[in-house]
Amino acid sequence: MKKIEAYIRHEALEAIHDRLAAIGLPSMSVTEAKGSGRQKGYTETYRGAQSTIFLRPKLKLEVAVDDADLERAIDVILELSHTGAPGDGKIFIYDIVEAIRVRTGERGAVVLASHEDDGLPDDF
Ligand SMILES: Nc1ncnc2c1ncn2[C@@H]1O[C@H](COP(=O)(O)OP(=O)(O)OP(=O)(O)O)[C@@H](O)[C@H]1O
Ligand SMILES: [Mg+2]
Repeated sequence: MKKIEAYIRHEALEAIHDRLAAIGLPSMSVTEAKGSGRQKGYTETYRGAQSTIFLRPKLKLEVAVDDADLERAIDVILELSHTGAPGDGKIFIYDIVEAIRVRTGERGAVVLASHEDDGLPDDF
């Protein structure tokens, strides 16, 4: 099992979410992030005062996947995040030691499998 941690532009999220869901990966976490890449900050003037902005808003997307789904998921994120301009983002991959579904106590890759057809109500 692997965790994909991707820093993406806000505009890319909906398409990525839809495409991942379409290939059986509907589960993800999204966090508002602020970050800097390798570019230097840019200077902005606010009420006459100049300040340098180092942090830009991004989304952090986290998706836990079975090893067999990893490359397909990366391909989706790469394709739909890429504009070719600086700031397109970055993807990090981590090993997951264990995954546990709280409701059932299930463990392992079964926890990461899509369960769209299990007849359960939506949770929220
Ligand atoms: N080494 C890093 N560690 C943690 N987060 C990072 C790292 N690099 C980038 N990020 C996150 O990804 C966001 C986007 O990075 P960005 O795409 O600007 O990377 P970059 O290396 O500067 O590439 P580019 O030259 O294409 O802009 C950053 O704002 C930050 O949130
Ligand atoms: Mg950058």
